[in-house]
Amino acid sequence: MNDYVIDQGFDAYTEEDHAVWRTLFERQSKLLPGRAAPEFVDGLKALGVAAEGIPNFEDLSDILEAATGWRIVAVDGLVPDDVFFRHLASRRFPVTNWIRKREQLDYLQEPDVFHDCFGHVPMLFNPIFADYMAAYGRGGIKALDLGALKLLARLYWYTVEFGLIRTDDGLRIYGAGIVSSKGETTFSLDSPEPNRLAFDLMRIMQTDYIIDHYQQTYFVIDSYDQLFAATRPDFTPCYETLKPLPTLTPDQVLESDLRV
Ligand code: PHE
Ligand code: FE
Repeated sequence: MNDYVIDQGFDAYTEEDHAVWRTLFERQSKLLPGRAAPEFVDGLKALGVAAEGIPNFEDLSDILEAATGWRIVAVDGLVPDDVFFRHLASRRFPVTNWIRKREQLDYLQEPDVFHDCFGHVPMLFNPIFADYMAAYGRGGIKALDLGALKLLARLYWYTVEFGLIRTDDGLRIYGAGIVSSKGETTFSLDSPEPNRLAFDLMRIMQTDYIIDHYQQTYFVIDSYDQLFAATRPDFTPCYETLKPLPTLTPDQVLESDLRV
């Protein structure tokens, strides 16, 4: 069965490709201490091989595998849902091999190697988060069977991509979509515009999301243990409960929501 894995084509990167990576890497590395979750910052240190340019996925995978058993594999863009889930369940994270152009430094609709690698790989160095991602993959295969992909995809969006966490030192970001974006890094934490609501599994799975500008609502976890514990039970009854319910819009705030 086609797994969509390709050769990274490491030797095909140009000097400019590596330079674009370095620009993004240095910019975000400077911005993130004090804004990103300590676990992300720790994981970023492990990404030392990526400071000089786009990392070789094999070298990076050897380091990551020693930490949490995950490897990264190259793909040329988004892969079908079932393929994506099977990779995650097998502790392989698909990473897009190409990098954006310099004109797209601040904004890109699709994931590139910077988003996928810089945004996602640091958290995969965290044992709890690494287990969460693999469990998510297994849950995804099941959700496809149950016709609940849309519901489960929202959980990924509001945690893995755009999650915030509360720490003793204040709110921190850990979602890959935020930590890989200069604008959303400060917007998500500092802007008075978006809602910041306490994590609530069912609430999240009921909520639509926007893919073409900054989020209107972020959900805040207290710990990765909380996230993992909330997502451990069988979701089959959750899906049954949610399917007949109306979808909430991305900006909607309910009486029952807890603002953080
Ligand atoms: N417990 C979920 C299920 O039964 C699987 C899952 C685990 C989903 C972790 C997301 C994250 O479907
Ligand atoms: Fe992503």
